[in-house]
Amino acid sequence: MTHDASAHADPLSAAQAAYDAVRARGLKLNMQRGQPSDADFDLSSGLFTALGEDDLQMDGLDLRNYPGGVAGLPSARRLFAEYLDVKPENMVVWNNASLELQAFVLTFALLHGTRTAPQPWVKAPVTPKFIVTVPGYDRHFLLLKTLGFELVAVDMQPDGPDVDAIERLAAQDASIRGVLFVPTYSNPGGETISADKARRLAALQAAAPDFLILADDAYRAHHLGTPPETVNFVALCRDAGHPDRAFVFASTSKITLAGAGLGFVATSEDNVKWLSGYLNAQSIGPNKPEQARHVKFLSRYPGGIDGLMRDHAALIAPKFRAVDETLRAELGEGGEYATWATPGGGYFISLDTTAPVAARVIELAEAAGVSLTPAGATYPEGQDPHNRNIRLAPTRPPVSEVYTAMGVVATCIRLATEEHRAGQGQGRT
Ligand SMILES: Cc1ncc(COP(=O)(O)O)c(C=O)c1O
Repeated sequence: MTHDASAHADPLSAAQAAYDAVRARGLKLNMQRGQPSDADFDLSSGLFTALGEDDLQMDGLDLRNYPGGVAGLPSARRLFAEYLDVKPENMVVWNNASLELQAFVLTFALLHGTRTAPQPWVKAPVTPKFIVTVPGYDRHFLLLKTLGFELVAVDMQPDGPDVDAIERLAAQDASIRGVLFVPTYSNPGGETISADKARRLAALQAAAPDFLILADDAYRAHHLGTPPETVNFVALCRDAGHPDRAFVFASTSKITLAGAGLGFVATSEDNVKWLSGYLNAQSIGPNKPEQARHVKFLSRYPGGIDGLMRDHAALIAPKFRAVDETLRAELGEGGEYATWATPGGGYFISLDTTAPVAARVIELAEAAGVSLTPAGATYPEGQDPHNRNIRLAPTRPPVSEVYTAMGVVATCIRLATEEHRAGQGQGRT
């Protein structure tokens, strides 16, 4: 992707020539999908045979029939309780999506209030608000907006959400009902909350009597190097005198099969009863054969879930390296064109252009055959106030394609930046 700048009188012409050259290659690459690769899926192919014709029972329950309850198969509750560092009594293991469980908790609170304060949030005189972190996950914004919440954005910092801002906002506004964020290897920046910030959130004095911490721990075990200290919000909130404040969500979507496994949530035992009561009104129970085959497959995998995650890391780490190496080689390390994260795990790399040209970069990349996460997607309403943030998702394509795609992205960043500097083109603001 390097180009002969000396042939051109000015940096803009050089950047344009380099871009024209990559565009002429007619590539078709996708760096926007936060999805596992086929090689990741292949690690879980044993799921399809984990349950044989004779495996009709688990925990003394007939997997083919209704009885079993809404909180999930006991063996599945035990397995994922260990994963989230709680007791099985603190778990609800449900169906295929943790986002659905997030939607249930929020919807039940809107309709019925919470266990701590059973007044429906929708009946409050003002629109309920929820704090989100930015840059953040577009589906969190979509979910909250769809349910009628007003979003209050706070910054995601290297050691987790801006807790100073959350403390200030929550203390003065009783319509702020909680915070929804990713505690480990956040989407898109890869930040992990520090133990100190987690303790402050658990102990926070909020104006709302039932302020909630909704921690979407989708990437809890998705380490690429040394694991960070994981926090236990259920225990921290209990110890801080707010036992029903925390709901910690996760799923097997990025462990086994995406959207085709199990979503689960850890919370206080009282909240498990609260949630189960409403779930029971709409379902006799979750899909037990799916839970049983996950239990069998994951417990038999060499090293269990940790072993499987190590095998995923071996596939994903070279792709993260490909992003970093290409950007360093093409854009330098001084921040002349962009800065980017080098997260210790998760699924994404967040890049900030130095000039306000993110939307233009994404447009140029699309025209050159590399599709990136849409501009602004990491901010509520799809509006990045600085027009700088780009979410890179390197997990799905093979390593060689990540190198190629990132070379194109770097070329687009150069061109958009030089256009901006020259005060011309659509990169101008
Ligand atoms: C932070 C985060 N939460 C949740 C999900 C989706 O999880 P699930 O398939 O369990 O609904 C994703 C998927 O990209 C994610 O990045």
